[in-house]
Amino acid sequence: MTVPLPAPGAARRLGTAALLAAAFLAACRPAAPSATLSRAPAIPERVTPAFPDGWRFTPGRAATFGEHGMVSSATRLASEAGVEIMRNGGNAVDAAVAVGYALAVTYPVAGNLGGGGFMVVRLADGRAAAIDYREIAPLAATRNMYLDERGQPTDRSRVGHLASGVPGSVAGMNEVLARYGTKPLAEVIAPALRLAEQGFAVDSALWRSLRGDSAKLARFAGAAVFFPNGSAVAPGSRLVQPALARTLRAIAAEGSRAFYEGWIADSLAAEMQRGGGIITTEDLRRYRAEWRQPLHGTYRGYALIGMPPASSGGTTMFEALNVLETYPTLPPFGSAAYKHLFAEAFRRAFVDRNTKLCDPAFCDVPVAQLTSKAYARTLAASIDRDRASRSPAPAEVPSGLHTTHYSVVDGAGNAVSTTTTLNLGYGSGVYIPGAGFFMNDEMDDLAVAPGKPNAFGLVEGEQNAVAPGKRPLSSMSPTIVLDPSGQVLLVVGAAGGPTIITGTAQVILNVVDHRMSLADAMTAPRLHHQAWPDSIRHEPNGFTPAVADSLRRMGHGLYGAGSLTTVHGIMRVRGGWHGVPEPRSAGGAAVGY
Ligand code: DON
Repeated sequence: MTVPLPAPGAARRLGTAALLAAAFLAACRPAAPSATLSRAPAIPERVTPAFPDGWRFTPGRAATFGEHGMVSSATRLASEAGVEIMRNGGNAVDAAVAVGYALAVTYPVAGNLGGGGFMVVRLADGRAAAIDYREIAPLAATRNMYLDERGQPTDRSRVGHLASGVPGSVAGMNEVLARYGTKPLAEVIAPALRLAEQGFAVDSALWRSLRGDSAKLARFAGAAVFFPNGSAVAPGSRLVQPALARTLRAIAAEGSRAFYEGWIADSLAAEMQRGGGIITTEDLRRYRAEWRQPLHGTYRGYALIGMPPASSGGTTMFEALNVLETYPTLPPFGSAAYKHLFAEAFRRAFVDRNTKLCDPAFCDVPVAQLTSKAYARTLAASIDRDRASRSPAPAEVPSGLHTTHYSVVDGAGNAVSTTTTLNLGYGSGVYIPGAGFFMNDEMDDLAVAPGKPNAFGLVEGEQNAVAPGKRPLSSMSPTIVLDPSGQVLLVVGAAGGPTIITGTAQVILNVVDHRMSLADAMTAPRLHHQAWPDSIRHEPNGFTPAVADSLRRMGHGLYGAGSLTTVHGIMRVRGGWHGVPEPRSAGGAAVGY
């Protein structure tokens, strides 16, 4: 028996009894995947790749299989929250919002109420949507607010009360649920509320992450929650967050107003005032998430749906993929020739990103031109297949983490790709006492000193300078790829500052060009080029010595510093879905059903 999913918005029009009956039926037996989903995707057979000797992963690892739906996210509890909602008859949008709220409880380093994000939705009926719930600069923000008396950037855009933009996550998640979800907000928030109220067992990933940021966190009110008695909550102990539970209960009952106008807004503004921040209740009252036209592109017959500005993610990725598409076939995966072309394509796309893109409310963003196939041909013509070109100016090596991506699909073929963040780990470190959440340090994604690198080494121009009401340019790249028959093939995105764009693109290239399974596409070694610094960044043992040598001889600088990018992906396979959490980091999980 099949329990059809209600059309978007339909659930609210049904009576409670009908809802309960539908939920009961759905809980007894999950919705069967549609006929199209049980077909194999319209792609060639997968090929097992060769990875360099010494690379930390071997090819051929298994993915999680789900016949009906799948969630891949940074914590098992959040993935399970999404599956719980789908098992109860919710669609992928309901599940994605449940995952977002559950991450705010179980993944405080990046999951959030005090940050922002971007979400791309593709519905089974073919409609696509994109919502921008990026933070905005407070009304009192000024161009030079982060510079010292000598005009040098300070760390005030990264740590402490001044670093935060006005948060967008609650508005964004609630808005998408209202438009494309089928469940009431209270039901979708319920798993997160349970986790905050009843607590959950701390795992070693959370413990390690808290310890890693302990110096920053010790300065603010969150220390009492996450460092009781002075040390990070221990693995195996139960973390209960009563203040966060109170906040979630208020949002569940009253929606976004509770956050942007009620006591939560008052607590946030009071903490800002106490600590010398500038976000006011007026800033919060004025915040709006923005629906955007999703960015549509194509790559070798596959359709791409991505995020337009205020994220640079879709534009930069599509621009580079268009350049790579000008080569009838790409060189083999592990070769120096492939890595060279990849680096050259992204070098060019990042120059455009850093000099031309910003919040579309503040500059004319030439997205159509940058993502046109004609422009890609002119860029490709400037690539020498044997020599590295030079980026116009140098910059420093980036550092700092953390963001989080999650991918969700349901049995009807609806798909949601979401990336959300506080910017650096635990954002600004500022924690709103009484309301129980961390604040972002997204102001550092504005060019606090145009021409000088930000926390990620990104050197951006005037167009992204600090201004009140402006959304900081982002690299977040939630993406959905359709196979040549028009069915969802991949739901993918990442954390990792600018490596988000290259990391997401590499999973797509590994699947489309190198014909890898999703598991291989995710474990394959990654590289990164962002124009400045003018070098290829790579993972330890990700290149064979011979390949590294060839790249150096072509004129590339190389540097490596640990893992690149945290990706969470889902791919359609015959009869269902494969889900793969980021294999480089602990704690993430793909959960299917
Ligand atoms: O929006 C952006 O591009 C950054 N705020 C993302 C930060 C990030 O990915 C941190 N690391 N994992």
